Amino acid sequence: MHERRAQALQRRRGRIGNRGVIRSVIYDKLILGLTAKWYAEVLGRLPEGAALLDVGIGTAGALLANAELVASKRLAVTGIDIDADYIERARRELARSGVQDRVRVLQESVYDHRDGPYDAVYFSASFMLLPEPERALRHCCTLLRPGGRIYFTQTIQQKPSRVMEVIKPLLKRVTSIDFGRVTYEQDFKAQIRAAGLELEEFTTLSRHGSRASALAVATLGSDRPDRLKSREAEA
Ligand SMILES: C[S@@+](CC[C@H](N)C(=O)[O-])C[C@H]1O[C@@H](n2cnc3c(N)ncnc32)[C@H](O)[C@@H]1O
Repeated sequence: MHERRAQALQRRRGRIGNRGVIRSVIYDKLILGLTAKWYAEVLGRLPEGAALLDVGIGTAGALLANAELVASKRLAVTGIDIDADYIERARRELARSGVQDRVRVLQESVYDHRDGPYDAVYFSASFMLLPEPERALRHCCTLLRPGGRIYFTQTIQQKPSRVMEVIKPLLKRVTSIDFGRVTYEQDFKAQIRAAGLELEEFTTLSRHGSRASALAVATLGSDRPDRLKSREAEA
């Protein structure tokens, strides 16, 4: 009886394990073609030797598609994600990537991350998933070195679309991937300002119908001394 129960548990664990692998593979097939190019744009803008926090690293596929850039720029990357399946795949891929000494991966939410200081924080297709984006930004400011920057790459909806607003959250049921909320340019920029950041760059990388891939770079705003104080208070 005991043995039969153990076998059932093992079978169930196997199914869950397989589901995790399938989710990660679906994710890589659907997302990486786009986001690997986004990472290339952002990593290319980082200074040599930068310490980077990658918020929502996913399976690390997009980062590792740019492993040569990570190595040639001598970057030190910390990737965090709340998804256990993605983190497991990220660790596996990292182990055979050739940049394992430059990248570490943690299963952790951005709100709980306390390490640093970092020269850069990067949200690639993760900012519009966060339940409290402004709080995440304010927290990330406390993790930055003076002169540090926050980078974003994501899809921006250029014309109002009620259909996309409804469809986007539902895509998770079909694909297992959380694509977050539809983001409009003015709302995105307002969130940056509300967190006390200043927008240094906003570039449209490509257009797809009424949507665009955008890259944004934000710097610590003029109330920076307070921000640095709050970092000291947290330490
Ligand atoms: C669409 S994926 C993007 C992955 C990768 N950055 C890329 O561009 O290929 C967004 C990721 O953000 C992660 N995420 C969502 N909420 C998070 C949080 N609070 N802290 C850290 N990661 C989070 C999700 O689990 C998911 O892996």
